[in-house]
Amino acid sequence: MDILIVGGGGREHAIIRALKRSPRCGKLYCAPGNGGIAADAECFPVSAADIGGMVVLARELAVDLVFVAPDDPLVAGMADALETAGIAAFGPSKAAAAIEGSKVFSKGLMKQYGIPTAAYESFGDPEAALGYITGRGKFPVWIKADGLAFGKGAVFCADIAQAADTLRAMMTDRIFGESGTRVVVEEHMTGPEVSVLAFTDGTTVRPMVSAMDHKQVYNGGRGPNTGGMGTVSPNPHYTAVHADWCMAHIFQPTADAMRAEGRPFRGVLFFGLMLTPDGPKVIEFNCRFGDPEAQVVLPRLKTDLIDIIDAIRGERLAEAEITWSNDACACVVMASPGYPVSYPKGLPISGLDESGQAADPEITVYHAGTTKNDNGYITNGGRVLGVTAKAETLEQALDKAYTAVETIHFDGAHYRKDIGKIVISD
Ligand code: AMP
Ligand code: GLY
Repeated sequence: MDILIVGGGGREHAIIRALKRSPRCGKLYCAPGNGGIAADAECFPVSAADIGGMVVLARELAVDLVFVAPDDPLVAGMADALETAGIAAFGPSKAAAAIEGSKVFSKGLMKQYGIPTAAYESFGDPEAALGYITGRGKFPVWIKADGLAFGKGAVFCADIAQAADTLRAMMTDRIFGESGTRVVVEEHMTGPEVSVLAFTDGTTVRPMVSAMDHKQVYNGGRGPNTGGMGTVSPNPHYTAVHADWCMAHIFQPTADAMRAEGRPFRGVLFFGLMLTPDGPKVIEFNCRFGDPEAQVVLPRLKTDLIDIIDAIRGERLAEAEITWSNDACACVVMASPGYPVSYPKGLPISGLDESGQAADPEITVYHAGTTKNDNGYITNGGRVLGVTAKAETLEQALDKAYTAVETIHFDGAHYRKDIGKIVISD
């Protein structure tokens, strides 16, 4: 099977490595890809957001499948456009991807179908939103732009002044464009966060092994939110009891709700959960693999990913047997100096050959923001590398990942020293 993967980050690198393990995998292509992905797949400079361009490329390459990995093209309807052009696509339709693309839609879905989530109201008018927040008089609150906002659309507001500033920025100044036409105002929840990704064909839901992301940029969970500074799998907070409860009250009901709404979700559905004192609740849904969750979940997948994709596309997931390694996996993200605010590009990266990835099959350095010049790899984005290791225990996986991180260098590189460690020292 010849496959074109849409995207160009660490998640796409992990997907490509998982596809490569399949005996059914033929030629791999990626658009736009990155410096490291180019060693595994032929890359083409078509933007992941360019739906027309991707249809043309897929046709030219005569691929058997296009795997649409990022949210923006899915929310904009890339899977539908490919299928309409007669090209097989893996990823939810535009109607189904609204579960990530519109907070107003996803919160309404949860309210209607009794899926546990933070209490909320949605607003199309900043005065009305501010009036509600003032009347409620309880802080903190979260204000969230309805649409996609580069992962920056959820804002924690400690008081009324911050709430007013946030509403002005989103709804009046439109810092996120159309995404700020409506907002959701949400109660603040507490508890550990868990990422559970699930394969679903619209009817059957097969959760993957759990993961824990580390969203804030600095050790101890300080500093601004990022796309994710590191992950471990399994998530040490998430027990078998949680898993059973979430299957019955969150995962299956969500797939059923989407089907009942005429938006069957076929692909990878990501449940961002919080284990609150009142039980697990949904923080958000994503319509795709997480980044860097894919980097720690996919190395644990023992079943052929292409077989699973086939089963989803053929709505035969109920028959599929999906097995996972009991090993733990850890990913430490090395970021550019200044990330997540502003950062330079083009810094030479050294030490990749010393990281152990060539000799030890359990160490993988996934490339996110890299490109290559005549002298080797250079930085080309905020999150640069996802240094990942698999081992029998989480401590061993973390040890291996951090040992590899210490061999790799670029000027000003920073990474969190406490990935998975808050839990270990608990
Ligand atoms: P979102 O963009 O909705 O995924 O939110 C980003 C992050 O903000 C989440 O991963 C949580 O850490 C935090 N967050 C969002 N909503 C809430 C909430 N209602 N209560 C507590 N934390 C939240
Ligand atoms: N790591 C969180 C996400 O992919 O949205």
